[in-house]
Amino acid sequence: MSAETTSKPGKQSHDREYSEYDISGAAFWEATAEEREKTFAKLREHDPVSWQRPIENAVEPDPEDPGYWAVVGHADISHVSQTLDEYVSGQGVLFDDLPADFLEMTQSFLAMDPPGHDHLRKIISSAFTPKQIKRIEDEIRVAARVVVDEFASDPSGEVEFVQQCASQLPLRMFSAMFGIPEHLRERSAAAARNIVAWADPEALGDRRPQEVQLEAAQELHDIAVQIVEERRKKPADDLFTSLAMADVDGEGLSDQEIGSFFVLLAVAANDTTTNASTWTVKALTDYPEQRDWLREDFDGRIDQAIEEFIRFTSPVMTFRRTAVGDTELRGRQIRAGEKVVMFYSSGNRDAEVFTDPNDLDLSRKPNKHVGFGGGGRHFCLGNQLAKSMLRALLRELLTRVPDIHTNAEPELLGTNFIRGVKRQQVAFTPES
Ligand code: HEM
Repeated sequence: MSAETTSKPGKQSHDREYSEYDISGAAFWEATAEEREKTFAKLREHDPVSWQRPIENAVEPDPEDPGYWAVVGHADISHVSQTLDEYVSGQGVLFDDLPADFLEMTQSFLAMDPPGHDHLRKIISSAFTPKQIKRIEDEIRVAARVVVDEFASDPSGEVEFVQQCASQLPLRMFSAMFGIPEHLRERSAAAARNIVAWADPEALGDRRPQEVQLEAAQELHDIAVQIVEERRKKPADDLFTSLAMADVDGEGLSDQEIGSFFVLLAVAANDTTTNASTWTVKALTDYPEQRDWLREDFDGRIDQAIEEFIRFTSPVMTFRRTAVGDTELRGRQIRAGEKVVMFYSSGNRDAEVFTDPNDLDLSRKPNKHVGFGGGGRHFCLGNQLAKSMLRALLRELLTRVPDIHTNAEPELLGTNFIRGVKRQQVAFTPES
């Protein structure tokens, strides 16, 4: 259990023991969230800011990586999120130290600190005008109907939910929002999937994770540059046009910045929402009385219910920061340059904040979950859109195929970032 004392150039020495509650093994992340929660509960109680060995299924294993701090309690997650002068994003937000050029190419302002972060986020936000949001929300409602049309009357009454339903709505929304032409839609969706599939042998084949990621990122950049060039010549009513024309204090965005934002959103919008709705159907299956409660007054209860679905399913499990200077948290001495990882999925089960945290309670109020982050400048920019998608999809499902339920175990994607499910079989009474 104990770590050797090391002192290597450019790395922090770590003369302290790794926690007895290990959360870095590949098997830990291949297990179910319920299994993992048993360990997180112990950590919250006995070792809320714990020193952990390096993560096992790293994209690019680094033999000099000393490990990371795991922050698992709700209050501490909020503190790290909101204390931007102590915990920064600019050195990476995933477990791995990815090369700077790759970060720049793929993570846009997600992996930046002020003032660069604030500047870019402001420009991007300016493209989400009320008119744009309204247009997107209208598209979401139509798209949800079309997606459910495609399987609701299937006489078999069975479907693989991830591919046929959950991933279709964000894909359509994302494509409509950016104005991606039909013939490029599947290509951009496949590239977005490959960026987050580094732990999935099925997606990797015999290639290295970083090779697959880099190729996918390049593909998305190429698509973005191609469309932006067209929009500069011939503007349309879409986000690519807004980004190409964006102007804040006389400054616009370069092709590189637009490309990077496109990659960020391709991942942020598609995978998160796909998994959120898949896990939501599983939750409704496991808690039939909660489904009945929601159906009794869908319009009056759905907004509150969505907050609970996000808390309970925690589709984004982790994000990392790096300590800028020596600091202290819960009595633990954190040194400059050390990684600090926030476990939102654990914060969302913190009994100090939530009564009966392991139960789905759609009437829960207040519901100060950290599913969209712990507050602060990086709080999910797309949270309203994500909620709109869930609302629209659930409305269609619960009115047209109200008994939809999982009828097999989910096939899990073993990563430590997104709570991924590759396949989930569901059954329902077909619409007549
Ligand atoms: C259920 C779905 C979603 C979940 C659970 C989720 C979760 C998160 C989390 C945890 C963060 C990091 C917050 C932090 O570090 O403090 C984040 C950031 C972000 N999300 Fe989401 N997200 C979802 C959907 C979306 C969608 C649909 C979009 C875009 C349309 C989006 C765009 C972004 C962006 C751009 C950021 C970076 C914000 C920044 O760094 O300033 N997300 N999201």
